[in-house]
Amino acid sequence: MASASLRWCFTLLMVLVIFQGVCVVFYYMPDTHSSRDAMTEALQKLHCAKLRRKFSVIKPAKSLKLQKFTQELSDFMSCPHKSNNTERELNRIRLQFCCNATGSFILTKRNTAANQSIQYETSTTKTYKMNEELHSMLPEDIPWSGRRLGRCAVVGSGGILKNSSCGREIDNADFVIRFNLATVNDSDVGLKTDLITINPSQLRYKEDLEKNPDPLVERVSVYGNSSIIIPAFAYTFCTSLSIKALKVLQPIRPQQPVVFFSPSYLRSLDRFWKGRGLREVRLSTGFMLISTALELCEDVHVYGFWPFDSDLQGEPIPYHYYDQLSPSRSMHKMPEEFVRLLQLHSQGALTLHLQPCSSPGADPENHL
Ligand SMILES: *[C@@H]1O[C@H](CO)[C@@H](O)[C@H](O)[C@H]1NC(C)=O
Ligand SMILES: *[C@@H]1O[C@H](CO)[C@@H](O)[C@H](O)[C@H]1NC(C)=O
Ligand SMILES: *[C@@H]1O[C@H](CO)[C@@H](O)[C@H](O)[C@H]1NC(C)=O
Ligand SMILES: *[C@@H]1O[C@H](CO)[C@@H](O)[C@H](O)[C@H]1NC(C)=O
Ligand SMILES: *[C@@H]1O[C@H](CO)[C@@H](O)[C@H](O)[C@H]1NC(C)=O
Ligand SMILES: *[C@@H]1O[C@H](CO)[C@@H](O)[C@H](O)[C@H]1NC(C)=O
Repeated sequence: MASASLRWCFTLLMVLVIFQGVCVVFYYMPDTHSSRDAMTEALQKLHCAKLRRKFSVIKPAKSLKLQKFTQELSDFMSCPHKSNNTERELNRIRLQFCCNATGSFILTKRNTAANQSIQYETSTTKTYKMNEELHSMLPEDIPWSGRRLGRCAVVGSGGILKNSSCGREIDNADFVIRFNLATVNDSDVGLKTDLITINPSQLRYKEDLEKNPDPLVERVSVYGNSSIIIPAFAYTFCTSLSIKALKVLQPIRPQQPVVFFSPSYLRSLDRFWKGRGLREVRLSTGFMLISTALELCEDVHVYGFWPFDSDLQGEPIPYHYYDQLSPSRSMHKMPEEFVRLLQLHSQGALTLHLQPCSSPGADPENHL
């Protein structure tokens, strides 16, 4: 009995000695702290690599468990972003080959004959006969295709931009694309605008535009010298509204060119993405112009594209940063477009911004 309890005592003592010894060793090891940091860092890197692989494979957005998805995405967005030059060039070549924004992004005197029949984007039978008058108002050539645009910011209207403080970073881009006459301000979305879209339905005014152009002139002058792009040949209802806007604005605001998407360019983009499994009635204008930017810009940064109703921290956000409207789900499949953007981001072909931007003064970008 006695020897048993002595043995227990001894064991206990040994355990204590060893334990303390270990503690002492840990305590006095001079580089414990940095080796533990190195360990955490290595684990972090593995985690990031795993997420990068995961998000570079497309899963249908329908199959996503939103809560887990946003948690992982939030982790991934804290990983250093890896831009990949090879991927950027590959996408540029693919898009040039299929769609050629460089030569046919918008209708110009060079790529359109004065008597040409323009086939509507969404119809195989309807056409519009170009005429001398309209032809004379088209730009000579595509203004942005002579040289490669540098860093482009494509700014969607997602409520995720609210309180983001991204304005300064966006304004630092070489070329800024915006949509649907969205409001601008210096804190969250920036002011610089080089190209902005108008949805033809936004051109319906109570009074005829030709009689009273003031409301339109006022709306577009907010964007300085930015070009205005309209899908004039998407649907037949778009055409007369768009041509009227062109006729009204050209003499009053010559510094703000009004241009029309080439419907054949948009049809080829549609085929390109359908071939990659993205099937929807019509691509969103945002997705179209991101595709254009991937061809024309060196480096594409995407802001305000987030199709879910809570942010990465799970906080509810509005659908748009500038109004309280709800999405129309019939036309576009924004979540399906989003998983493709996420894939392009994971592959290093573009940079998606989903978090608030860093405070002024800090280096906004991780150029890796
Ligand atoms: C960049 O992309 C190319 C083409 O997909 C790939 O082969 C290469 O491994 C990528 N580079 C890095 C550093 O990930
Ligand atoms: C794109 O269009 C331009 C102008 O029409 C043409 O010079 C160029 O060869 C085209 N590029 C491709 C890849 O088709
Ligand atoms: C368009 O006009 C050109 C000359 O300007 C002419 O050669 C051509 O036949 C016309 N095409 C059509 C479809 O009318
Ligand atoms: C933005 O900030 C304001 C003021 O701090 C706050 O009231 C509002 O809820 C925030 N909105 C979002 C979408 O985070
Ligand atoms: C806008 O265009 C006008 C006329 O071409 C020019 O005087 C002005 O400097 C331009 N403004 C900016 C900000 O580029
Ligand atoms: C900027 O715009 C956002 C979104 O509309 C709004 O929440 C914010 O209050 C605006 N900030 C300023 C300074 O106007």
